[in-house]
Amino acid sequence: MPEDDLEDLPGVGPATADKLMDSGFESYQAIAVASPGEMSNTADVGESTAADIINAARDAADIGGFETGSTVLERREEIGKLSWLIPEVDDLLGGGIETQSITEVYGEFGSGKSQVTHQMAVNVQLPKEHGGLEGACIFIDSEDTFRPERIDDMIRGLDDEIIADLLERREIEGSPGDDDTMDALLDSFLDHIHVAKAFNSNHQILLAEKAKELARDNEDAEFPVRLLCVDSLTAHFRAEYVGRGELAERQQKLNKHLHDLMRIGDLYNTAVLVTNQVASNPDSYFGDPTQPIGGNILGHTSTFRMYLRKSKGDKRIVRLVDAPNLADGEAVMRVQDGGLKPE
Ligand code: GTP
Ligand code: MG
Repeated sequence: MPEDDLEDLPGVGPATADKLMDSGFESYQAIAVASPGEMSNTADVGESTAADIINAARDAADIGGFETGSTVLERREEIGKLSWLIPEVDDLLGGGIETQSITEVYGEFGSGKSQVTHQMAVNVQLPKEHGGLEGACIFIDSEDTFRPERIDDMIRGLDDEIIADLLERREIEGSPGDDDTMDALLDSFLDHIHVAKAFNSNHQILLAEKAKELARDNEDAEFPVRLLCVDSLTAHFRAEYVGRGELAERQQKLNKHLHDLMRIGDLYNTAVLVTNQVASNPDSYFGDPTQPIGGNILGHTSTFRMYLRKSKGDKRIVRLVDAPNLADGEAVMRVQDGGLKPE
């Protein structure tokens, strides 16, 4: 249940609060990112009232504040790297995807974006000596893409040495390959993957808020949240804001959403991994099919951008694009039954 009491906002009585809730404006944060026109249309309040409500919610919502340089430095020293377990890709990234950063993986359908999110939900749980961060994963799923069976495949696809180490650490009896043993191992992995489906873009924005609470509540847990996946980041926004006239509003919301995600990354030392399609429709605003949806705003916010391209058979080309302090370059990986593998 939402914690924010909408009736605390000036001008919002019980009836308006109900209307807002029914229209999906369930928290200060959800209201803060709305536009007066949108709220007026969907929640049936006057546009100027809507503007007042939005302004009040912006003041009330947690939108962050200032901190000293030494606090920033301290936090940066904690940055962790999450390995893909593909040496060529890890080399491109200087070790792996970073916590306290947003990594955007974009590419056309079937290029392997969702495979990357699944593999990372496994890898993040591995001990540090095996490239992981001994952390949990939050998975915001906007395309009904999450498959526990695929996690199972990927665990079975890990090196024998890693599996043996995991069984010992997780105090699971039995030997690798044994079905009961592997089922128990799978359960222990699934326990550390928190999945929520996002039904529309507003819901997705709300789920980011929930993700923040979950990361906060698990900060001192055995498996703190070290990875937040959003697959796909843009699909709902793209489907809901279709007209040219809605582009600015879409970008504004997407921008706010990305900053919410970034804030979780910063506050809880979490890697944020988002997927994004490329424009396939030549009539779309971004006619170039090698350009990710969302244009510049997304480009400036995501610290690492990786472009996936299909190649022959199970091969995929991974290209690092515009990363700060890293050279652009390409690597090859394969999408196999056991997960993402080196060439
Ligand atoms: P969209 O979400 O449609 O934009 O695509 P995506 O980029 O997320 O693609 P996804 O990660 O779903 O990759 C799909 C591809 O992964 C398929 O075309 C298969 O080649 C491969 N794949 C998925 N599951 C398996 C599997 O169990 N075994 C093998 N060998 N390949 C798989
Ligand atoms: Mg996908």
